[in-house]
Amino acid sequence: MVLGIDLGTSNTVSASLSRDGSPVLIPDAHHKDQLTTPSIALIEGKRAYAGGFAENLFQTLPDKQIISFFKRSFGTQDPVYFDDHKNAWFSETVASLILKKVKSDAELYLPDGFKRAVITVPAHYNDVQRKSVIEAAKLADLELSAIIEEPVAAALFYGSFNKKIDEEIILIYDFGGGTFDLTLITKAGNQLNVIAKDGVNKLGGKEFDQIVHTTIRESYEKAFKCPFPTDKLVTNRIQKIAENIKIELNDTEIPRDLRKWIMVGRDAFEATFHYDTYAAEANQLIAKTETAVNRCLRSLGMQLKDINKIVLIGGTSSSKLVYNYWKQKMVPGQDLIYHQPLSSVAKGAALYAGSFGEGSNAEITPIDLRGVSTYNIGLILSNENSPAKPQIDLLVHRNTPLPITSKKVYKISPHQREFVSFELCQFWDPKEDVHQLGTIKAGPFSLMADFYMEIAIENRLNGTIGIKLKNADNGRDIKFEFIRKESNHTYDFKQQKALVDGVYLNNNI
Ligand SMILES: Nc1ncnc2c1ncn2[C@@H]1O[C@H](COP(=O)(O)OP(=O)(O)OP(=O)(O)O)[C@@H](O)[C@H]1O
Ligand SMILES: [Mg+2]
Repeated sequence: MVLGIDLGTSNTVSASLSRDGSPVLIPDAHHKDQLTTPSIALIEGKRAYAGGFAENLFQTLPDKQIISFFKRSFGTQDPVYFDDHKNAWFSETVASLILKKVKSDAELYLPDGFKRAVITVPAHYNDVQRKSVIEAAKLADLELSAIIEEPVAAALFYGSFNKKIDEEIILIYDFGGGTFDLTLITKAGNQLNVIAKDGVNKLGGKEFDQIVHTTIRESYEKAFKCPFPTDKLVTNRIQKIAENIKIELNDTEIPRDLRKWIMVGRDAFEATFHYDTYAAEANQLIAKTETAVNRCLRSLGMQLKDINKIVLIGGTSSSKLVYNYWKQKMVPGQDLIYHQPLSSVAKGAALYAGSFGEGSNAEITPIDLRGVSTYNIGLILSNENSPAKPQIDLLVHRNTPLPITSKKVYKISPHQREFVSFELCQFWDPKEDVHQLGTIKAGPFSLMADFYMEIAIENRLNGTIGIKLKNADNGRDIKFEFIRKESNHTYDFKQQKALVDGVYLNNNI
């Protein structure tokens, strides 16, 4: 059997394949009607709780500190939690608790268990973020066949029962809890081509919650003439309340204002949420996704009217505001599809997992995935002597078919320096968002004469990056170290694995 996991910012969903090869969701082992696992954890001494367990505990004992939105910290060196012994827990480590929970649900649900899994990642994840997800799986003792991008997984699922989409251009619009991703796809038989990608970092349901949160804060401050409390406990609880009010505002048949009594500590106050104010701000957030859509289409010389279908996925796409925003942009002949927005990613991941031939019953459908690079990838030669703005040497252009290996040769003068360093970076726009992934430090060089060094950067099909250095004169490999961004805390696999293995998860002793 196989397992596909959509590790989401707010919710994690997992799926396997039934005998006929169609994907089915895996329920929570303790609550069979629960088909999603909240991506939250709670750690208490030697016990850890993940998913519904953590949420239930938090609801009965709201003074506990829950760890949520850790997916937004993938790829950073910043711990997301410190336990009673001041141990730093990284996003990978907390994520591994969720993965362990999902893994144990699957082991109980699938009569023959499962061998390997496929986990999904947002399409705009960079190399370090993708490697964080792979690392989280390792911490959870979960063997991976592959990682796959969330919109691609959704497209696989959509294409699995909709054979008509061949020769069409489809825009997968993935608006989730923490991220917005868009992917343009074409399909021909078993071949799925990603032709372009774009997105907005840190734009998701959480930003919509924030609109409601601001109203709550302002109402409190007006009622009590004092600043809104900022402690973690209030923040966690109000976050949940804000999310529920947001969903209520979004889901009303006829737009209307809401009045709610809210408790903060011992203070109760009434807040009014005006639909029109909320909708105006929400539409501004949706407009940011439109900017990304247009940028992506423009890069291909296309316009919105050239798209055959928009498939809406992700929880935020459940909002009527999102649907209506795009509905009024559609021209005759174009479809706006809203189909299983919450489960299609996990189901597509299960289909992809099945294509690796691990399934005992399921029919194996070969899937030929063709992807493109998400980012431009470049190198900056560190030169301490020159204060001038560093120049980026572009090696991989975004939206290039994957895998790709690109090489550049540099002249090295070892008598000037024992080591040579390059910054490896990914970016969409060099003027705005150059993200430094780490430093390639080559050397020490024993040669004294000048030589030519070749740097090869490989962007693999799964979006991760491989680096190789060699002496271009004699073909020999050159040793190097890859140093991630400096941080006060260092992620150490063994130490983090000991933390995960050292706790009892969800009362399993
Ligand atoms: N009816 C609704 N209207 C508006 N928003 C909704 C609705 N239902 C769910 N959401 C929001 O959708 C978000 C969760 O979506 P989803 O489960 O797709 O995210 P995720 O997969 O956890 O995140 P990501 O894919 O960004 O990592 C939450 O912010 C939630 O409040
Ligand atoms: Mg998601």
